[in-house]
Amino acid sequence: MSDTELDLLVLGSGVAGLSAAVRAAETHKMRVGVLTKGELPQATTRWAQGGVAAVLHGDPDSTDLHLADTLQAGAGLCDAEAVRVLVDEGPNRVNELIALGAMFDRDARGELELAREGGHTLARIVHAGGSQTGAEVERALVEAVQATMAAIYEHAFALELIIEGGRCRGITARFPDGSVQEVRATNVLVTTGGAGQLYAVTTNPLEATGDGIAMALRAGVAVADIEFTQFHPTALSVDSMPRPLLTEALRGHGALLRDTTGERFVDELQPRDVVSRAETRRMLELGADHVFLDATGLEQFEQRFPNIAKELAAVGLDPAKDWLPVAPAAHYTCGGIVTDLRGSSSIPGLWAAGEASCSGVHGANRLASNSLLEGMVFGPRAVEAIEAGGSGPEATGAMRTVLGMDPDRPDEVPPGVIGGRFVHLEPIVIAADSPAEDPAVLRNHMQRELTTHAGVLRDASSLEQAAKVVADTMASPRAETVADHELRNLATVARAAVDAALRREESRGAHTREDFPQTSAEFKHRIVFV
Ligand code: SIN
Repeated sequence: MSDTELDLLVLGSGVAGLSAAVRAAETHKMRVGVLTKGELPQATTRWAQGGVAAVLHGDPDSTDLHLADTLQAGAGLCDAEAVRVLVDEGPNRVNELIALGAMFDRDARGELELAREGGHTLARIVHAGGSQTGAEVERALVEAVQATMAAIYEHAFALELIIEGGRCRGITARFPDGSVQEVRATNVLVTTGGAGQLYAVTTNPLEATGDGIAMALRAGVAVADIEFTQFHPTALSVDSMPRPLLTEALRGHGALLRDTTGERFVDELQPRDVVSRAETRRMLELGADHVFLDATGLEQFEQRFPNIAKELAAVGLDPAKDWLPVAPAAHYTCGGIVTDLRGSSSIPGLWAAGEASCSGVHGANRLASNSLLEGMVFGPRAVEAIEAGGSGPEATGAMRTVLGMDPDRPDEVPPGVIGGRFVHLEPIVIAADSPAEDPAVLRNHMQRELTTHAGVLRDASSLEQAAKVVADTMASPRAETVADHELRNLATVARAAVDAALRREESRGAHTREDFPQTSAEFKHRIVFV
């Protein structure tokens, strides 16, 4: 593509990627490229509602309590060192964002307003425009990156990593004119987000197809915790894709969950996995496809949550009078490309941050409003490591599972390390005469099957059925259009997610096996694809 090799190629344009690009181009004057399959502002980040969890005022909250809440939500699979970095560095990153121009909501005295969400013991979430935090963060970062010398490649679809001599040297990408070209870079940072589009019911935009994670899986880069898809408990139950999100902050302000008979059935401020599970069970018991969020007791709904009020009005709902039909929807991919605390993947020159990564901060279930925070902390950390000459992984964060253990002796776990089970995925062989089917039809079918068979509740037989559908999807040989590539990426991630879900014969965090309802010490490890 370019005659000059970039110092850093950022894939994706959400909070992690743009925070990194600004840091690299502005602070360190690196030659930076940002490559995205859509337009720069078109990232999942802008859909994030609730906010950013960060202890900005100290008293009465403390970063230790934020750390404890994060570990609790993560159900035993967080890396405590990674969470420590997240909660300690988060406040400075939020202040930097404010200095860049991001406008967070403030009270009459000019102090930042703080909200509470599920799994948080205290109100510590800063927000913008009520529940338009992601959009404001994205706006500020897009403007900041556009003011730098970074090269922007829009509508360019990353196809494969270029690995030469054991090091990542760039990518191949499909450009808007249909040409496939190399983009060479000394370092590649994957910030392509998660794979919510695996499911028919999701809060994620159409672009969330797990592209970076799939590329990593194909290249043999370590990927872990991919069985943990988090389902958000309060997506508005209407027939649209993505499903409109009704932010956790509504429950933080006192909104209640009721089943279709009007009964409450769960503590609304439990972490998301607990609430989504309770909802799903209650819906099955009552033969309903939704429960209700009762926000009739909330004052100043329209002033506090203007975007949600607008969405509700569009479907004829008035939150002052109507209970709002909600159901769980796929929301966040907790696992991804395994990284150390600096964002290095298992391959030198390849870095990852944000939802595409598995740094160890989320474990088996992400705490609400820790996702924007993770992006703004770990994106810039990768840049600082590159600037300091770092290359190749260190045994820190989730990478300790990969480097700290002998894959051939997975039972010998060094003290303080979360163990790992290492899985080698066989390459898919596609018969040349397989019929090429419409990718939209295949995607739709796979999404519906995964929702039914690999969703909030799963068991061995439902997962076997899901695995079969994924294998059939992968047999389609077309790889011409962006839709074909997205389908291939979704199926690649689905294959690993279903495989890991089958292997994890326990229930933990966002992974609930009806046939193995207990959490088992035997499974307190990551499932790592290499
Ligand atoms: C929400 O506002 O409920 C979503 C925020 C998040 O995903 O953490």
